[in-house]
Amino acid sequence: MKAKLIRSSTQLKLGESPVWLNGVLYYVDILGGKIHSYNGSVKTLYSDKIIPFIVPCNDGLVFGTRDSIRHLSLTRMEVETLFTLQLPENVRFNDGKCDKNGFLFAGTMDMNEKMPSGKLYRFGSEEETVLESITISNGTIWDPDIETMYYIDSPTRKIRVFDYDMNKSAIISERKSFDVSSFAGVPDGMTLDSQGNLYVAFYGGNGIIKFNRSGEAVKKIFVGTKNVTSCIFGDDDMKTLYITTASDKINRGGHLYKFRNDIPGIPSDEFKFLHQ
Ligand code: BGC
Ligand code: CA
Repeated sequence: MKAKLIRSSTQLKLGESPVWLNGVLYYVDILGGKIHSYNGSVKTLYSDKIIPFIVPCNDGLVFGTRDSIRHLSLTRMEVETLFTLQLPENVRFNDGKCDKNGFLFAGTMDMNEKMPSGKLYRFGSEEETVLESITISNGTIWDPDIETMYYIDSPTRKIRVFDYDMNKSAIISERKSFDVSSFAGVPDGMTLDSQGNLYVAFYGGNGIIKFNRSGEAVKKIFVGTKNVTSCIFGDDDMKTLYITTASDKINRGGHLYKFRNDIPGIPSDEFKFLHQ
């Protein structure tokens, strides 16, 4: 099974964080410092030094910078800062996602990708630390039907599985982990379909691997470039898997891909200002 290149997508340094919102795909170029939208053609909505992730909210997007969380109103085209962290110099935000209650879980990483100097935080009315000793925070996603949170620290080549209290938006305990070290590359971003299967992007691994709830690999979607970073379901039937990629050392890759799946995905959850 092969994903199709979206030819009109412009090249990205580090494409990431795809979000499907009201018929439009939004995504970032982390190192290019851009938020883009794609709806048949690409538009650049916002630029900053680096933009590690975006999540939807009621009138636009909440996004990360190196050390802060900001709100971009797409109706007013205005930006406000919601949180600023005192991060060590070599640490930056990386992936971020919201749970069903609208809490933002965003993590940090060592820019040299070596030291466990990152953390996973939860942002509601304030910032709280959820996990420590993380090298590259990635891939947070929830399966509400089995009250589970999945999480990836990329260099560990594991998908961590937590029992999760959906009412309190809190981890109860770590249940197990899936070892994915037999697959090429490192696990990066991931999403879920409506039956609870995980679709995990492998950076350096040329594709997306689908895992069932028991952690068994059930299919591989090949992507025609090495560094596959993340994916999200979209389109009216929620069966198109949109895939982001990053450029490699000799400047190949960094485009969007899509794959028609048999099972629909789940929508991206919004950040809710209620907790503010
Ligand atoms: C990070 C990259 C990193 C990749 C693979 C991405 O989420 O933004 O800097 O190279 O994960 O670990
Ligand atoms: Ca990522």
